[in-house]
Amino acid sequence: MKKLYLTSPDKEHPVPDLINIVDLPTCRSTNEYINENLNSLSSNIPLLVTTDIQTGGKGRDGRKWIPVGKGGIYISYLINIKNRENLGLLALAAGTAVAEAISEMTELDIKLKWPNDIELSGLKAGGILIENKLFNKNVFSVIGIGLNVNVDQKQLSRDILKTATSLSIISGREIDIRELTLRISEYLLYFTGIMEDRLYDVILEKYLFYLKHKPGDEISFHNSGETINGKFIMINDKGALVLELKDGGEETFFSGEISTPA
Ligand code: BTN
Repeated sequence: MKKLYLTSPDKEHPVPDLINIVDLPTCRSTNEYINENLNSLSSNIPLLVTTDIQTGGKGRDGRKWIPVGKGGIYISYLINIKNRENLGLLALAAGTAVAEAISEMTELDIKLKWPNDIELSGLKAGGILIENKLFNKNVFSVIGIGLNVNVDQKQLSRDILKTATSLSIISGREIDIRELTLRISEYLLYFTGIMEDRLYDVILEKYLFYLKHKPGDEISFHNSGETINGKFIMINDKGALVLELKDGGEETFFSGEISTPA
């Protein structure tokens, strides 16, 4: 198995020296590849599965991740989470890792939309799908990241033309996909390590920096066909959204989507 050698972004918090890589020329879904081969792959943790072309990618909430062909990042990590109480924060840690990696390599003004949509100029450039498997005390997390990197306007199908973009469209230049994958891997293992050490504030502070909506903003929350308007109070250390409702009460939501009210 190939290996990618890692350096921590912060010397005080080391990351594993390497991550094992399965590099597939093409595949249906990198998340599914790990799910289907979990037994044989679990001895190679931390593991990264990458592909140049993904044909049947999965998105959050049962949606599809529309393929854009070459120039996209389609990667999934298999890692072990020691403390399952941290699983809510994992989604935020992964989003923060992607935002930090992009910011380190480009001048792009990257934004995260809770929980972890990756946006540029108000358009979606990437997303993250986390699937957890619980075996006795072990938690195997599959963290799938899709990112439109060197993707031009013509590659965006009609379904996503008005809502999606890519790093190269916004920056006007191509970005080294291998290097960006390396940086994402380093930041991902760094932030998950920080999370396991329960240094939640380190993650939340960085996450809030990239977050599109800020505390005090009026937002719309959507879940299962329902929309609730309210004021964004904060994201707590379980990764949940705390919303002030119109009647002055507060409610905490662990999953869903938010948008800016029209
Ligand atoms: C979202 O709905 O925003 C999440 C999209 C996640 C897509 C990535 S691409 C690599 C990995 N494999 C998949 O099938 N999905 C994720």
